[in-house]
Amino acid sequence: MNRITMTFQYITISACLCAIASAAPAVNSTSVLDTILSRGELLIGVTGDYIPFSFLADGVDIQDVAGADVDLGRALAASLGVNATFVQTSWPTLLEDLHAGLYDIGMSGITKTLVRQQVAYLSDSYMDFGKMAVVRCEDGDKYASLDDLNQPTVTSVANPGGTNEKFQLEHLDKTNQTTWPDNRSIYDRVAEGHADVFVSDSVEVLLHVDLDERLCAPIEETFTQSEMGFLLPRDDIWLNYVNLWLHQEEVAGSLTMESFIEKGEALYVANI
Ligand SMILES: *[C@@H]1O[C@H](CO)[C@@H](O)[C@H](O)[C@H]1NC(C)=O
Ligand SMILES: *[C@@H]1O[C@H](CO)[C@@H](O)[C@H](O)[C@H]1NC(C)=O
Ligand SMILES: *[C@@H]1O[C@H](CO)[C@@H](O)[C@H](O)[C@H]1NC(C)=O
Ligand SMILES: *[C@@H]1O[C@H](CO)[C@@H](O)[C@H](O)[C@H]1NC(C)=O
Repeated sequence: MNRITMTFQYITISACLCAIASAAPAVNSTSVLDTILSRGELLIGVTGDYIPFSFLADGVDIQDVAGADVDLGRALAASLGVNATFVQTSWPTLLEDLHAGLYDIGMSGITKTLVRQQVAYLSDSYMDFGKMAVVRCEDGDKYASLDDLNQPTVTSVANPGGTNEKFQLEHLDKTNQTTWPDNRSIYDRVAEGHADVFVSDSVEVLLHVDLDERLCAPIEETFTQSEMGFLLPRDDIWLNYVNLWLHQEEVAGSLTMESFIEKGEALYVANI
């Protein structure tokens, strides 16, 4: 092939690409991001039952929901120059409500799981957490590992129906396994000596350790490793926006474990 032919082919190909490009219709983007901007409103799905992330006290309007993720939702709306509108969702209907278009972003301490990723998008992680043990401080020295806790002489407690009970059944199988149905008073079971250990999510454990001087978390490293992210519809443009905003919040220092725990303490003191 001589040089002139090559050049000729190059020109032909370029011309073809130009033709394709200019033939493409001037469609508006169909991203959720554009919908939010033109709507002037960001719809934020919250469960309202997970301190410090989102919490709705009985009888309180959903627009007055509180929590660290709620504050982040308001900041995200402000970054877009739109109003934040909160939408009540629930753990069992989280994905269904997202797919029904009831909200643009789910924010309530949502764990990033492959099951969720199969049908939706999850933002970059903003919180690392895992299962952590809480015991009475006076017993703190006895426990340096999960093995030290998983003994027949130890009474464990768990709230039935979630990952805490699953952890108890699988990893505290040698203990005297008890359950307690009331999530609000379950930490008192340990503090008051009815149980010796409760294993729950680290954010919550650290919060209670701060709130109740009788309680300690002697094993700093979590037994499991999970991450939280925000739940989004399958929309690359919207995902990219949320991730950049999240990154900037992180750089600005608004996503520290301390700030989440502080928020949770305030919610407990005010409501529970
Ligand atoms: C794109 O959106 C603008 C503003 O909403 C509207 O005026 C215009 O007609 C739209 N164009 C197309 C091709 O839909
Ligand atoms: C945003 O909220 C303000 C105050 O409630 C209201 O005046 C305004 O109309 C709202 N904007 C939109 C786009 O809903
Ligand atoms: C109590 O906690 C368990 C385990 O995390 C959870 O499955 C359950 O929904 C909670 N119950 C209430 C009433 O919040
Ligand atoms: C297990 O714990 C329960 C609740 O504290 C207690 O009543 C029971 O005696 C314990 N059983 C054993 C074998 O320690």
